[in-house]
Amino acid sequence: MRTAAAALALALFAVESVLAGGDSLRARGRERPLSLALERRDDGLQSADGSVAFDVLESYRQGANAATISQNKALAANGTAILAKRGQEALTYYGGATPLWYGTVQIGAPPQTFRLFFDTSSSDLLVPSYKCNSLTCRGKKRLDYRPSADATAKSTNKTVYTYFTDGSQATGTLLQDTVTAAGLTVTQQDVVAMDSLPSAIGGRITDGMGLAFRALSAAYSYSFPFTAYHQGAQPVFGLSLSRLPGKSELVVGGYNRARLAGSPDYYAVGYSPNSQFLDYIQISQGVPTLGGQPALYDRVPMIFDSTTPTIIAPPAYAAEFWSYVPSAQAINSTYWSYDCASPPAVGLAFTRAATKVYPIAAQGEYNFNLGTLPGNSSRCIGALLGENVGVGNAFIIGDVFFKSNYLILDFKQNRIGVAPQRGF
Ligand SMILES: *[C@@H]1O[C@H](CO)[C@@H](O)[C@H](O)[C@H]1NC(C)=O
Ligand SMILES: *[C@@H]1O[C@H](CO)[C@@H](O)[C@H](O)[C@H]1NC(C)=O
Ligand SMILES: *[C@@H]1O[C@H](CO)[C@@H](O)[C@H](O)[C@H]1NC(C)=O
Ligand SMILES: *[C@@H]1O[C@H](CO)[C@@H](O)[C@H](O)[C@H]1NC(C)=O
Repeated sequence: MRTAAAALALALFAVESVLAGGDSLRARGRERPLSLALERRDDGLQSADGSVAFDVLESYRQGANAATISQNKALAANGTAILAKRGQEALTYYGGATPLWYGTVQIGAPPQTFRLFFDTSSSDLLVPSYKCNSLTCRGKKRLDYRPSADATAKSTNKTVYTYFTDGSQATGTLLQDTVTAAGLTVTQQDVVAMDSLPSAIGGRITDGMGLAFRALSAAYSYSFPFTAYHQGAQPVFGLSLSRLPGKSELVVGGYNRARLAGSPDYYAVGYSPNSQFLDYIQISQGVPTLGGQPALYDRVPMIFDSTTPTIIAPPAYAAEFWSYVPSAQAINSTYWSYDCASPPAVGLAFTRAATKVYPIAAQGEYNFNLGTLPGNSSRCIGALLGENVGVGNAFIIGDVFFKSNYLILDFKQNRIGVAPQRGF
């Protein structure tokens, strides 16, 4: 038994700056809040008794193996492209379940409507195509990009290969098409139409809209917010994931000040090791904190990932962090439990000196406490896990952080704004 599905309506608010500087970008319904229904599914992290569903957590974790970015770049220059996004985009969501945060996106003319998840740690817009007839694709909405069905689709005839962490491969066609999301319509957005999806993928969700930098893209595509910027929007987006109904939103071309408790602080976007291009939305000098104090000797890169529910740290760093929590006990190299009666006050800081700390809510649905240990309701499982996911020393910062903190990406000044969310 899993907990009942929670559906959250996503309200997208029109942001005045959205139309600044260009008229090629059409905003719809500017007078009222632009609405993109972003729903949250039951991710099944807890069983009915409030204990952690380890099998579900494990499936998330196993999906979080990163493909190598350097390989991705080398091949992308070649006309054919290897879509080597972080694997968890494809594998995170097992068992026919739908993703955590998804919304409606329209592609083509007349518009074909898709439910996609929004992913801060990839950069491609990926949908199944009409050519895909595998079992995996049946029952999925598929993009018909033939001229008879889609007047605005232009095929580049470039093939995009996606390799999943289980070794299976999917093939797609790179298109440019009109796309509407977050109340904005852009033209000539790169779209990867997946012409085949291996059956091994099963019910895992592969359809999503990436929001990160171009260097993460298989075909060196600009993600939607960047295309919107090139067509007149401001070079900014804001993401708010809240457990309060109606409070979650993605704003493209601005951010929603009303959701912020105070002004955002800005941090430079960091580079991945050996990379001369920005790829992930990451900062390079992060540190987890306990009671406001650094709980790690080193400072580490932190990658923001809206498709991971927890925080994932290299195992040695996770062990060091938990060594500072008096009641902590390791279950194994991945999971730690603590005394539910004295939860750790966990936060993140994004500078070497760690002067400013962004707290992570300790209690409540989908916060630092993932649920109790099966068989011992006085032991809680913490949302900082140990796992090597192929991104070196970096921590993956997922939902558990976004629930308490608003994220802004300013990709003109290449800085990340963070502020605690108001009334999360
Ligand atoms: C760690 O423990 C959890 C819970 O018992 C289990 O599901 C998982 O497979 C274990 N992982 C390892 C690496 O042993
Ligand atoms: C480059 O593309 C050609 C086909 O045009 C392919 O045979 C070759 O393997 C590609 N190179 C790499 C490194 O993928
Ligand atoms: C893609 O292939 C089709 C059919 O061969 C052709 O008509 C079209 O011009 C090609 N598009 C590009 C951008 O090369
Ligand atoms: C729960 O865990 C605590 C701390 O390890 C232990 O003292 C207690 O006996 C356990 N309770 C049960 C029911 O196992």
